[in-house]
Amino acid sequence: DDSFESAMTLTNSGAPQVPDRYVLPPSQRPALGSSLGTIETTLPIIDLSLLHEPLLRSSVVRDINMACKEFGLFQVINHGIPPSVIEGALDAATQFFDLPVEEKMLLVSADVHQPVRYGTSLNHSTDRVHYWRDFIKHYSYPLSKWIDMWPSNPPCYKEKVGKYAEATHVLHKQLIEAISESLGLEKNYLQEQTEEGSQVMAVNCYPACPEPEITLGMPPHSDFGSLTILLQSSQGLQIMDSSKDWIRVPYIEGSLIVQLGDQVEVMSNGIYKSVIHRVTVNKDYKRLSFASLHSLPLHKKISPAPELVGNNAPAYGEFSFNDFLDYISNNDCVQQRFIDTLKK
Ligand code: SIN
Ligand code: FE2
Repeated sequence: DDSFESAMTLTNSGAPQVPDRYVLPPSQRPALGSSLGTIETTLPIIDLSLLHEPLLRSSVVRDINMACKEFGLFQVINHGIPPSVIEGALDAATQFFDLPVEEKMLLVSADVHQPVRYGTSLNHSTDRVHYWRDFIKHYSYPLSKWIDMWPSNPPCYKEKVGKYAEATHVLHKQLIEAISESLGLEKNYLQEQTEEGSQVMAVNCYPACPEPEITLGMPPHSDFGSLTILLQSSQGLQIMDSSKDWIRVPYIEGSLIVQLGDQVEVMSNGIYKSVIHRVTVNKDYKRLSFASLHSLPLHKKISPAPELVGNNAPAYGEFSFNDFLDYISNNDCVQQRFIDTLKK
C-alpha cells in the first residue's frame, strides 16, 4: 500500500535512487559538493550565560541586535538546558522513528489543527514535489494539557520530550526578553504579546538519502511564528543571506539555533527579518532535529510596535496565525511567502 511509504521505509529498503516525486527541478537542487551557491560564513554565537551578568548584559543584547539584523538567526551556547535533557530528547526521537511504520501511521492526519500529528513525505497529496522527511508535531504548552495525547511508544517519550519542551519554554522567555530589549522596546513588550501563545514541537527525521544532490529535506521557507529554537543532531540546515546565497549552519555540539519568524519581522516593523531556511540531506546517516515553534495566540492580530513605526507608516498590515493558516491552505507557499503579502 503506497500510503504506508515514507522516506524512512524507502531508506530501509535500500533503493539506489529516490523516486521521481522527490526529484527537484534543477534550479531548486541544493548543489551539494560544489562550492557553487553554498558558502561558509561565520555565524554569530551568543553565550547566553552572560545575559545574567549585570555588567555584560547590554553588550550581549547588542550582539543579539547585530545577529538579528544581519541573519535573523544565531546560535546559543551556555543556554542552561542540561546535556542530559538534550540527549534524552534525541534518544526518545530515535526510538520513535525506529518504530514499525504501521504504528506511526496511526498518528497520521492531514488536518493541520490536530494537536498530535505524524507525517511522512507522502502525506501531502497536493504537493507536486516531496521532501525527504518524516515528522511528528505536537502541541507542547501548557504541557499538562497536551502530554497525555503524545505518543505512548516508546515508553520514555513523554517524560524525555516533556522535559525538553519545558526547558525550551523557559529558554524562549529569556530570548524573547533579550530580543525586545535589542529592539529598544520594554523588556516585556514581546513577552506580553506572546504570554498566552503557543509552543508546537516539530520533531523531524531525515533518513540517509541515496541522492542528496537532487532532493531536499525541507524546501526554502520562513517560520510563521515569533521564534523557533532548533536542536539538530548533525549539520543539514542552510539559511539564505541578503545576497541570496545559501549558508550552512554548522553543527556545534550542545548548542541550539534561534531563528526569527514572521511575527517578529512584523512586530519589529521590518527592522528584523525572518530567516529563510531549507534542509539538505546526506547519503551516510539519518539526521534528527527538534524545532520548538513559539507563536502568538491563534486569533491575536499582530502589527508593528508603534514605538518602532514612529512617524512613518507601518511597513506591514495586521495578521493573525489563523490568517496564516487560511493562506497556506489556499496557496503555493514555496512560490510566495505569506509575510510578503502583508508588505505595504
Ligand atoms: C525547520 O524546522 O524548518 C528546520 C528543521 C531542521 O533543521 O531540521
Ligand atoms: Fe522552519
